[in-house]
Amino acid sequence: MRYDVLTLFPGIFAGFLGESLLDKAIQRELVQVHLHDFRKWAGNKHQSVDDRPYGGGQGMVLSAAPIVDCVEEIRGDSPVGRLILLTPQGRVWDQVAAEEMARQQDGRVVFICGRYEGFDQRVIDVLQPEEWSLGDYVLNGGEVAAMAIIESVIRLIPGVLGDSESSVDDSFSEGNRLLEGPQYTRPREYRGYRVPDVLLSGDHQAIARWRREKSLQRTQERRQDLLPKTDPPRSSGEEIGE
Ligand code: ADE
Repeated sequence: MRYDVLTLFPGIFAGFLGESLLDKAIQRELVQVHLHDFRKWAGNKHQSVDDRPYGGGQGMVLSAAPIVDCVEEIRGDSPVGRLILLTPQGRVWDQVAAEEMARQQDGRVVFICGRYEGFDQRVIDVLQPEEWSLGDYVLNGGEVAAMAIIESVIRLIPGVLGDSESSVDDSFSEGNRLLEGPQYTRPREYRGYRVPDVLLSGDHQAIARWRREKSLQRTQERRQDLLPKTDPPRSSGEEIGE
């Protein structure tokens, strides 16, 4: 995968790119991340990339030109891959979206991270990006959202995680859209809390059944929206079939 990230604060990514999972994936050439400070495309001597909103109101709005120029320059004449603008107005990112991106053939994504009160609408009108959000809350900018999306995708790319860290059993993952149940490791008893006997039984079927039950129970308690939809009960007079 190759990610290009437009940001006014490339320093935010330093720890993220230099540590653990992503660092290893970059060294093994499974992932590239290129940061672009779009202030360099400001085109004015004060290097300003924002201005007051037309119509009045609080805060500053990011101008269209520096972002559009920066995207056009890094994409060149033949734009390939996806262009994603991070905004609380976008579709909410989820595991299905991450799986789709991990399968993407060309593996190229450009992210636009905003700051301040948002973007001039002409960024969207001209570039027609996809708009994605991390969730229904407002961040100071798109950087944390870009990092979350990148991490959610690269851990699905074969070879990025070791076998022991495999992502297949994760909550929300393909084949299991439910929450994971509780996990235990040694010791068998801690502050009066004991590991459930079934996990010590060596009975693999019973363990699998217990895990499935706990996963369903937790999902039922916390996230009913994730449970498979069941058909509403039929009313008594309703015909069945033709
Ligand atoms: N920028 C500010 N808030 C955001 C959010 N919730 N998701 C993505 N980008 C953002």
